[in-house]
Amino acid sequence: MKTKIWHITKENEIQTYLEAAKLLQAGEAVAFPTETVYGIGADATNEQAVAKIYEAKGRPSDNPLIVHIADQSQVHEFVTKIPSNAKKLMQEFWPGPLTIILPLRPDRLARNVTAGLDSVGVRMPEHPVALGLLAVAGIPIAAPSANRSGKPSPTSGEHVEEDLSGRIAGIVFGGKTGVGLESTVIDCTLETPAILRPGGVSQEQIEAVIGPVISEGKEVAQQEAPKAPGMKYTHYAPKAPVVLIEGDVAFFQEQIDVAEHQGETVGVLVSDELARKLKASKYVRGLGSRDYPEQIAYHLYDQLRHFDHTPVTLIYAEPFVKIGIGEAVMNRLDKAAGGHYIRQSEEN
Ligand code: TXA
Ligand code: MG
Repeated sequence: MKTKIWHITKENEIQTYLEAAKLLQAGEAVAFPTETVYGIGADATNEQAVAKIYEAKGRPSDNPLIVHIADQSQVHEFVTKIPSNAKKLMQEFWPGPLTIILPLRPDRLARNVTAGLDSVGVRMPEHPVALGLLAVAGIPIAAPSANRSGKPSPTSGEHVEEDLSGRIAGIVFGGKTGVGLESTVIDCTLETPAILRPGGVSQEQIEAVIGPVISEGKEVAQQEAPKAPGMKYTHYAPKAPVVLIEGDVAFFQEQIDVAEHQGETVGVLVSDELARKLKASKYVRGLGSRDYPEQIAYHLYDQLRHFDHTPVTLIYAEPFVKIGIGEAVMNRLDKAAGGHYIRQSEEN
């Protein structure tokens, strides 16, 4: 399949939305930027269109998709009820990086969108291109991140092209995404809402609006069947294995030296502060200041992907503090590393 590429400018904006929306309405899959990561969209009411997403991504069919809308009023079309907590969250955080799970109204959406569940994840993105395209298309759009399944999510049109060129009908390029990590997923079908995936809106921000929530990520860390089905799969991983190194500068340096002595080519993924202190190989990538987790989130996927274009055989990464979006950063890094740590305390 030839993938049509658009680069959004002020001059061609409307024309691009019209062309891309036409493909979506015709049941094709089209990728577009959101404020979190790029998504690959298809008509959420059309089962064959949605099947093209799973196919292009190589995604397991038991992992449901998020439905994207341009206007809050669209939610009523496909959910039975909006609990008061959910209403407050929509008011506060939409448009924005928060996906809310609500009870599904039967027979309105294609069944493969929700992978047979009786709930549906909904989000209104805060990105002019996403909102423009959704508004012109006029239909709810199912959209997972626009990466091949298992790879880091795409934060630029180039990343999408790398993974999906030839597999989908079109890609709308709209620059780098702002947040750099996916939306927070919160289940509001429960009496006490539960965060199923940490993301762009932090637990602290959510609790300031609706009070205490359950945090699956924290309390049920390595459980077998997490409630967001997607969380059980290996994720966000570059080709080389990732290991988190917990310790001081000297310890980190020693791990690099030992691995290189053993013939590994070590990629290093750390804060700018640590990058300045390490005498490491040329494959050191700074993610930004560790005091600003937003910077780390913004650069994380791009830098993880970067290593796929280098000869590194092993990636050593720094763990970050789980405050604010730092929680989501560590969730993704943990998964990229498959939970693999080397800890200084264990050695002593
Ligand atoms: O920021 C984002 O959320 C991006 C952009 C494109 O909007 N999308 C995204 O979609 O990250 P995806 O498919 O990569 O991740 C969706 C997550 C998965 O972990 C999935 O299992 C969970 O949301 N999910 C979707 N619907 C669900 C439901 N009804 N119940 C529980 N979990 C659900
Ligand atoms: Mg994804």
